[in-house]
Amino acid sequence: MAKLMLLTLLGLGLVLFRDHRASYQARLNAFREVKPVEVPNCNLVKGIESGSEDLEILPSGLAFISSGLKYPGIKSFEPDKPGKILLMDLNEEDPTVLELKITGSKFDHSSFNPHGISTFTDEDNTVYLLVVNHPDFKSTVELFKFQEEEKSLLHLKTIRHELLPNLNDIVAVGPEHFYATNDHYFVDHYLRSWELYLGLAWSYVVYYSPTEVQVMADGFDFANGINISPDGKYVYIGELLAHKIHVYEKHANWTLTPLKVIQIQNILTEEPKVTRVYAENGTVLQGSTVASVYKGKLLIGTVFQKALYCEL
Ligand SMILES: *[C@@H]1O[C@H](CO)[C@@H](O)[C@H](O)[C@H]1NC(C)=O
Repeated sequence: MAKLMLLTLLGLGLVLFRDHRASYQARLNAFREVKPVEVPNCNLVKGIESGSEDLEILPSGLAFISSGLKYPGIKSFEPDKPGKILLMDLNEEDPTVLELKITGSKFDHSSFNPHGISTFTDEDNTVYLLVVNHPDFKSTVELFKFQEEEKSLLHLKTIRHELLPNLNDIVAVGPEHFYATNDHYFVDHYLRSWELYLGLAWSYVVYYSPTEVQVMADGFDFANGINISPDGKYVYIGELLAHKIHVYEKHANWTLTPLKVIQIQNILTEEPKVTRVYAENGTVLQGSTVASVYKGKLLIGTVFQKALYCEL
């Protein structure tokens, strides 16, 4: 009897494990086939070989690109080199990238590990660049002032907070004010793995300002990219493993109320919910994370590898 019980439990365990593994693979889109959607005029960006995880283009056509991310479980082609912020002028005929110098005595360049980035431009046209950083795999937000003439970033401040433990992306709404995604709940490496595998969906979004820090949305299965509409009324949050983009209304008191969910589905049917601009099966780009458009030019970034620049 005891043996039978043990076998039953073992069988049940195996079934649950298989079931769970299948849903894990579905969350990761592990078996998705990618049918190419081509854009005629594309070139790899020279000088980007070890990532372009996030990028942002200013209205002037200057693009900031974060490069060299080291993230647990993800490939790095330059594991021993610090990350960097690259600048690209999309007004140029054949734009190249330039590494922005970082100045400011308190900044430790050797452990720089940039992830999500966002800019904020104030009334007198000062451009602030806010960068999610993972020195020693911890999470901070680095605040820089962009100095266009000198092609440099002046480091102003490092922001750390207990509600910002596992930062992924950020969207600035002031010089020291932002919404940020925490892609995990747990900090501990072991617990993080279980959190991800079991699909607990405990990832969350925080509003930060020097005077107020608050969780504004939670329950995500890996909250990833975050952005704001040009008019500042809506906040978009990408939920990676649920394949969803959430749209929130942003209120004057910075709280967010859910408006709708854009499910990335039916993309190959007659009436797609989303237009696929570009798709490629990994021979050119692997692990793309971000794309932005400036005057008919499309710039696409990747986690650990190259970047692509296309004419639409
Ligand atoms: C924030 O503003 C919204 C919309 O005006 C309101 O519904 C909500 O109660 C406010 N929340 C707090 C905590 O003040």
